[in-house]
Amino acid sequence: MKNLLVTGGAGFIGSNFINHLLSKRDDLKIINIDSLTYAGNLENLKQSENHPNYSFVKADITDRESINNIFEQYNIDNVINFAAESHVDRSILGSEVFFNTNVMGTNVLLEAAKRFGVEKFLQVSTDEVYGSLGPEGKFSETTPVDPNSPYSSSKASADMMALSFQRTYGLPVVITRCSNNYGPFQFPEKLIPLMILNSLNDKKLPVYGDGLNIRDWIYVIDHNKAVEHVWEKGRIGEVYNIGANQEMTNIDIIKLILNYLDKSEDLIEFVKDRPGHDRRYAIDSTKIETELGWKPEYKFEEAIEKTIDWYLENKTWWERILSGEYQEYYKLQYKNV
Ligand code: NAD
Ligand code: DAU
Repeated sequence: MKNLLVTGGAGFIGSNFINHLLSKRDDLKIINIDSLTYAGNLENLKQSENHPNYSFVKADITDRESINNIFEQYNIDNVINFAAESHVDRSILGSEVFFNTNVMGTNVLLEAAKRFGVEKFLQVSTDEVYGSLGPEGKFSETTPVDPNSPYSSSKASADMMALSFQRTYGLPVVITRCSNNYGPFQFPEKLIPLMILNSLNDKKLPVYGDGLNIRDWIYVIDHNKAVEHVWEKGRIGEVYNIGANQEMTNIDIIKLILNYLDKSEDLIEFVKDRPGHDRRYAIDSTKIETELGWKPEYKFEEAIEKTIDWYLENKTWWERILSGEYQEYYKLQYKNV
């Protein structure tokens, strides 16, 4: 039985990961630690909360003493680090918490893993560490790291630190760098849920710049299956890109959502661009596909409808979020919309 520490497991990707793993495996115990920031929501884990192989501890990854105690008490032998401040716009409004959590928090986890010893430490990173692409080409694992936002630079710093722990101390680190996720339980600050909920509520849809920025979309379950592959089979000291070859402009996604919900395109409002806005992301995932045998299963056209349906069916989940702290953030970020 493995004792897997999953950090940030009450967030969007981490909660989907835990729900997925516990529904199909009985050879591991999952210890989920999360400090429950605005983005952490234990409601996401309803299907897992009573599972005999699941424990939750409210803890902050920057808290060295708590983290060391958790490693000792639960005999942690594997780590998957999802915990992070994850939203680019929030990192532009204020960067400090991004460096505390994403850099110092990762340092605390790496030090604990070194001290107690682990089989594997998987650092969940992002394609944003590579910066921005022009109209041609894709990010491969050898593309130089060149981040543009406080968020992506904090993630790039954590990647460098994790690799240095592998090279210096022999810590068994692997890194994944995935493209933009979508699916159930995504916090409504991110493009797809924001546009779904604003459309449903007949609110304006704030499109940054000309709306022609491109992201390479992957359904969250595909991402999580890839993380599982890398955790089990990924070579130590390696980076694995994860993507599903589904590039879309923002405006095309927004029009698709409006069309599906039978709403007018008059809701679209072009607003001031995001500072340092990366133009295009595209992922080359040949390495994980050929080396580890992973392949994405979901097509964007089907999984986006599945995602919109999920938000239609889970109104109480998002209504609670929209009525809380989110209102303050929305006012600050979208002053004139
Ligand atoms: P999220 O914001 O939905 O969830 C983050 C979780 O981390 C929350 O539950 C939050 O409470 C927790 N957390 C934050 N600070 C913490 C701290 N100091 N201690 C303990 N817990 C803390 O983020 P997400 O979209 O699920 O992203 C998860 C990971 O995947 C992040 O590392 C992110 O960089 C990476 N990633 C995200 C995407 C994407 O499209 N969302 C793509 C590639 C990689
Ligand atoms: O690529 C992986 C990254 O994807 C992850 O590492 C991040 O955690 C995740 O937040 C995401 O970052 P992005 O900045 O690409 O995602 P976001 O949903 O914020 O924006 C997607 C695109 O939509 C981007 O071009 C900006 C645009 N946008 C976003 C918002 C919130 C708008 O036009 N209007 C908006 O209101």
